[in-house]
Amino acid sequence: MAEAQGNIDSKDFGIGIPQDNQGYYLKGSANLDWGIKDRLARIFSPATGKTVMLAFDHGYIMGPTSGLERMDLTIVPLLAHADCLMCTRGALRQIVPPTFNKPISLRYSAGSTVLTELNDECVMDIAEAVRLNASMLAVMVAIGSRHEALTIRNLTATIDAGSRCGIPTLGVTAVGKELVRDSRYLSLASRVCAENGAHVVKTYYCDEGFEKVAASCPVPIVIAGGKKLPELDALKMARNAIDQGACGVDMGRNIFQADDPIAMIQAVKAVVHGNESAAKGFELYQTLKNEKRNNTN
Ligand code: 5RP
Repeated sequence: MAEAQGNIDSKDFGIGIPQDNQGYYLKGSANLDWGIKDRLARIFSPATGKTVMLAFDHGYIMGPTSGLERMDLTIVPLLAHADCLMCTRGALRQIVPPTFNKPISLRYSAGSTVLTELNDECVMDIAEAVRLNASMLAVMVAIGSRHEALTIRNLTATIDAGSRCGIPTLGVTAVGKELVRDSRYLSLASRVCAENGAHVVKTYYCDEGFEKVAASCPVPIVIAGGKKLPELDALKMARNAIDQGACGVDMGRNIFQADDPIAMIQAVKAVVHGNESAAKGFELYQTLKNEKRNNTN
C-alpha cells in the first residue's frame, strides 16, 4: 500500500467546466464505437472530412484491366499519394509493402466475373480481415439485380462481423449491365446500404440530381470514377461530387489509366482536399506532368 501515502492530493477537477462531448465530424457516425471512429478517421482526414481512396480491386471481376497488368510497376508508385487503398487481399499481400502503413478498404465480397453474371458473391472470413489489419470492409450490393437479396445478406453479415471487431463496412452500389445509374436508382441503392448499417457508401456520380443522392444518404458517400474520362472531365466530376455533398472519391481507372497517374492523383487531391477548382487541378496536373517529362529528357 505504498501508494496510499505520500501521494499528491487530487484537486484539479475542473469544476464548472463542462466535459467536451467530442462531436464527430462525419455524418451519421456520432454514435459509433471508438474503434470504428478511429478507423474512419484514418480514411477520412479529420482536417477536411474528405478522402481520396485509390481503387485497384478491378482484377477480381475483370482480370488484368488496362493499367493493372503489373500492379507492382503501376500501382506501387501511387500508394504514397493515396489516403486509403481499396484492393483485394491478393493484391494486398502480393504488391502492397506493409511499410506503407496506409488504411486498407479491403474487398471483402467475391464471386462471379464479367464473363458470367456479376454480383453472385460470398464474403470472406472476418479473421482474415483482422489479420490484414483492414480499416474498412468493402461489399458489393446489387440493388435491382437477380442477386439483390444475396448481396444484402452479404452486407448484413459483413456489418455484423465487422462491428464485433470495430471495423466499418463500405456498401458498394454495384456495377451491372442492367443497372441504370440515374439519381433515382443511386439514391435508392445508397439509402438501402445505409439503412442496413453500412458506415460508408460508394456509388457513382450522376450529372442530374447527385445532390439528392448525397443528401438522402445519412452516411458519408464516396464516388467511384467509372470508365476513363479525359483528365479535366474527371477532375470536374470530382469537384461537382464534392460540391454536391460527397465526402471523397474512391477512384481507379481515372487515376491509373491517366496519361500521368502520379500527377493525376495529386490533382484529384488538390480538388478534394484543397478545394481547388477543376481548372486549377488540371493546371497542377499539367505542371506535374511537364516537370516529369522535362526531368526525364
Ligand atoms: C468495382 C469497384 C471499383 O473499385 C470501382 O469501380 C472504382 O474504380 P473506378 O474508379 O475505376 O470505377 O468497386 O466494383
